[in-house]
Amino acid sequence: MTTVSHHTFATTARGLDRSAAPMRLFEKAKRYGVWNPSDIDFSQDVADWQRLTALEQEVLLHLTALFQAGEEAVTADILPLLLTVAAEGRIEEEMYLTTFLFEEAKHTDFFRRFLDEVAGVHIDLSHFHSPNYRAIVYDALPAAMQALLVDRSPAAQVRASVTYNMIVEGVLAETGYHAYLSALERNGLMPGQCRGIRLLKQDESRHIAYGVYLISRLVAADDSLWQVAEDTMNDLLGSALGVVADTFGCYETMPFDLDEGEFANFALNQFQKRIERLERARGASLEEITRITERAIDQGDA
Ligand code: MN
Ligand code: FE2
Repeated sequence: MTTVSHHTFATTARGLDRSAAPMRLFEKAKRYGVWNPSDIDFSQDVADWQRLTALEQEVLLHLTALFQAGEEAVTADILPLLLTVAAEGRIEEEMYLTTFLFEEAKHTDFFRRFLDEVAGVHIDLSHFHSPNYRAIVYDALPAAMQALLVDRSPAAQVRASVTYNMIVEGVLAETGYHAYLSALERNGLMPGQCRGIRLLKQDESRHIAYGVYLISRLVAADDSLWQVAEDTMNDLLGSALGVVADTFGCYETMPFDLDEGEFANFALNQFQKRIERLERARGASLEEITRITERAIDQGDA
């Protein structure tokens, strides 16, 4: 085994680049990412759950089974990205990513509390994971992330971040949480669950903002990576939207006025907005990418 040494430390040589977009996100995460799932009061949620119909309970359980495994997957699969940015000496990005991992762990904690304390469910929920869901969360996500353990090339990083941030977070998670939260709010149900989802959505928007920044930085440095990003999106977008269709396909009538079109339109709109941001990064300078990221953060997209 070869000996590994540090030759320099950023913080005693050049200092921290506090103007870098990841440091902006780190500051936000230290302020807004520290909510505690254990503090959420589920007492009204328990009462609400008991008044739901069997179909309503089934649908909430179905969605929660998708969110729960998704959060565990993103917790389990982020580490190769931390190793990659650490190996490149990008201490600001690594510092931000420590909050990212912490937040995903808290989301995993949050949904399991809901299953244990509100739904009181202790059966295996994996029958809710459809073939399209499995294609992404069971297979494509860990494959793209673990590829970084043997190949840290910019192309591998683009594939990893597009899969993780653009597809799993940007299409699946964000859309699911948006529709789930508006369904509960519309029906005046489960205030504890709503509060947790609102906090979790804020965390996710920082994660996605980081991902868009990372892909932008990589594409700006090498325009041939744009094709890699597009190919990865095209490979996965069908399955991601298929998860919505699979879910609705299980039920003849959806409770809570859940609307398939609302899910699908939201997913495509968010996706389109981020592709446009990525396209502006082509040939841009790091300063321009930082400005684009900051504008997105200021507009609430983080
Ligand atoms: Mn999450
Ligand atoms: Fe996330």
